[in-house]
Formats: sequence, structure tokens, C-alpha cells
Amino acid sequence: MSILVAGGAGYIGSHMVARLIEQGQSVVVVDNLSTGHKDAIDSKAKFYEGDVRDHKFLDGVFTAEPIEAVVHFAAFSVVPESMEKPLKYFDNNTGGMITLLEVMRDHNVKRIVFSSTAATYGIPTSIPIKETDPQIPINPYGESKLLMEKIMHWTDVAYGIKFVALRYFNVAGAKPDGSIGEDHGPETHLVPIILQVAQGKRDELSIFGDDYDTPDGTNVRDYVHVMDLADAHILALEYLAKGNDSQAFNLGSSTGFSNKQMLEAAREVTGKPIPAKVAPRRPGDPDSLVAASDKARDVLGWKPQFDDVHDIIKTAWKWHSTHPNGYNDRK
Ligand code: UFG
Repeated sequence: MSILVAGGAGYIGSHMVARLIEQGQSVVVVDNLSTGHKDAIDSKAKFYEGDVRDHKFLDGVFTAEPIEAVVHFAAFSVVPESMEKPLKYFDNNTGGMITLLEVMRDHNVKRIVFSSTAATYGIPTSIPIKETDPQIPINPYGESKLLMEKIMHWTDVAYGIKFVALRYFNVAGAKPDGSIGEDHGPETHLVPIILQVAQGKRDELSIFGDDYDTPDGTNVRDYVHVMDLADAHILALEYLAKGNDSQAFNLGSSTGFSNKQMLEAAREVTGKPIPAKVAPRRPGDPDSLVAASDKARDVLGWKPQFDDVHDIIKTAWKWHSTHPNGYNDRK
């Protein structure tokens, strides 16, 4: 039997594929390569190029392959872009989920692990954020993912398709051997942007706002290493295979770092000066986002290996410094 990884050519999906292959699993990847990279997919995985919204294509994959469970990463995830193009997000993210669940239902596949997000909470009512806290998104990205969670709830009720929704906080880092990593075009995320400045690919970092209600005035985020995240998905697959009920889990480190602290940590790791300036706030940024992640630790037995942002940045730096042009350097 095989695990289907939808979005397995993307940043997080490709690390998941690598982890599954390390575990000796048979892996089928579906990806339309709209943001992912073919070279990011482990060569031992079987790759089908296509779109999760394409019912006929997906039906063909499920007919050809013995799929026992699905891990779903195939979604757009850039908050500011979602504010400008909400329909793009509802179409690909929410629409893609409907097609995927239809095909799972038709082929009697009953388990799915899904990439949800801290963005489903909107402005937190308390820090750290618990899974039971209100989910009131403040951007279409978060709304599209919340709808996906709700759709999965109802397909569980109707068809018994069990799900685990993993609500990611800020994912960073790369496979420690430096073979795969983060490569978005254009890049919008803090850690890779800081490292591009360290590489000399950008002149300086713009810190978006220093007048937030946080200790140093810059936003506070909770950083989790991409391989720890992959491990949580493996545990979630095992949790569902044991016949457990559908659940949502936060995935974070339970520790917040401000944008200025991340910059300082990157300066220490890289030994580069990394020039920075304060720029206006970016729309849609909550002051702080920090996870309560004891539920994932207690219920799934999740034990993140990377608990220091320096170590997270170190692995990202290995990828960036050996692949200054991202996957173009692997061709
Ligand atoms: N930031 C800067 N300068 C930059 C880029 C980012 O100051 O050039 C700041 C942002 O304003 C924010 C912080 O760095 O304060 C982190 O921003 P990212 O874009 O790296 O990440 P986000 O927190 O916006 O979003 C990420 C994921 C979302 C997810 C969210 C949940 O991209 O999908 O974490 O915490 F929903």
C-alpha cells in the first residue's frame, strides 16, 4: 500500500516525502508544480504531475495506485496574496479539497492528514493558542483552510473519512544534509529573506513594523523545524491507522521569537552583518502567534528535535548557502 502526498514537490511536502521514504514507505506524489519543484521530490517516490482540482486526473491516480492514506499539502499559503486574490485561494485550497475528498470517498480511502494553519485563529484571544480557542480568520488564506477543516468534519460524519488537521505555526529550516530546502518565487517568508540578505542576494531586510504590542515592538512568531513537522505527520498517520477519531493539533514550539530576535539569531549563525531597516506594518499581521502544542506531544507523542531557533536557522543556512539559486542549482 502507498501513501499519497498531494503537494509533495513543495517546501513542506518534499520534506515529508523524504521522511516517508527514509521509513521505507511506498510514496505517490501528486503536484501541479505551480509552486513546487520536480527536483525536490525524492527519486524513490512515484510522481504524477497534475492538479488536485482535476477529478479525472486524481481518479486515474487512485485507480492506478493502492492508496491507503493521503497527506494533503497542495495549497497556496501566502497571506498577503490571499488578501488581493481571495478567489484564487478558495478555488485551489477549498475547491481542491472537495475534489480530493470526492475521489477518496469513491475509492474507499478513509484517512487524511491535512496542513491547516495558525491563520485559522485570526487574532488570538489568548497566548499560547489552544486548539479549542475561537477560529475567526482575518484573511482569505486562513478562511480557506478553516473551510477545509469544516468540510473534512462533515465528510467524516457522512462517509467515515477520518482526518487529522495539523495547524502549523511558522515553519522554517531544511533537511539537515542540505539536499532539499525552501525555494519560493517570489520569497515572502522571514527566515529565507533574512538569509538571502546574508547571501548578498538582497540589500537589506525590511522589518514590517516595530510598534506592535510585544516586548521589542516587532511581531512574535513560533518557529517549528520542517523535519519536526514531517515527524508529526508520520505520527498523525499512525494515529489514524490505529482507528482513532478525527482531531486537530497545533504544531509549534510553544516559544515565541520576535522578528528582531530572529534577525539577531541569523547574524550569529551566519556571521554576516545582515543590514535591516524598519518598514511600515504589513496588513494582516497579528502581534503574536504562539502555539500551545502539548496536545500533539501528549496525544501523538510528538517530540520535536529542534528547540532552538539557531539550530533551525543553521539548517536553512546550509541549504541556502549550498543552493544560492534554489533548485536551479540541483538541475
Ligand atoms: N516579515 C518581515 N519582513 C519580511 C518578511 C516577513 O518583517 O521581509 C515579518 C512578518 O511581518 C511577520 C514575520 O516576519 O511578522 C513572519 O512572517 P512570514 O511571512 O515569514 O510568516 P507569517 O507569520 O506571515 O505566516 C506564516 C505562514 C502562514 C501561516 C502563519 C502562521 O506563511 O501560512 O505563519 O503563523 F499561517
